[in-house]
Amino acid sequence: MTEHSPVIIAIDGTAASGKGTLAKRLAKYLDYAYLDTGLLYRRVALTLIRQGLPTDSREAAIAAARALDPAPLDDPKLRGTEAGRGASVIGAIPEVRKTLYDFQRNFPAPCGKAGAILDGRDIGTVIFPEAPIKFYVDADVAARAQPRHKELLAKGETIAYETVLADMKERHARDSA
Ligand code: DC
Repeated sequence: MTEHSPVIIAIDGTAASGKGTLAKRLAKYLDYAYLDTGLLYRRVALTLIRQGLPTDSREAAIAAARALDPAPLDDPKLRGTEAGRGASVIGAIPEVRKTLYDFQRNFPAPCGKAGAILDGRDIGTVIFPEAPIKFYVDADVAARAQPRHKELLAKGETIAYETVLADMKERHARDSA
């Protein structure tokens, strides 16, 4: 790390464990840049969905990852169930991970802040293993499914709690593998 490199805080953890909330609050408090890396995977998935392609379309996912534009990361559709499910599927494609690895590694340097906070499941292990500050946030799957269910209902999705719980377990199995 050079003298002027931003300090990296890595916040890893399971889906809907509160890592995003922690990351956002810390970033605001410290005036650090913030990147929710799940949004990158969701962005790629949503691009495929909007092209009418299944989210396991390898070549299209790789192309979408390479063409990733960080600007539209505030699209509310990115937080929906479909994008989340798709993100987990495209996250299993090694070339997509490699492309998004570069994107994430390149995020802190030009951010213009004293530090950068990145949250996601592999930030402290794969993306920034050298980060001087690391958190791992987790909670029981039922406790994580409840707020996620509420959030989806508030966004206007019609989805049962049991579906959210099952989805979360399935994604956890795929993400860990
Ligand atoms: O944290 P999230 O729910 O927004 O993540 C959505 C999916 O994206 C998650 O199920 C797996 C994938 N993902 C990933 O593989 N690596 C990351 N650093 C962040 C997300």
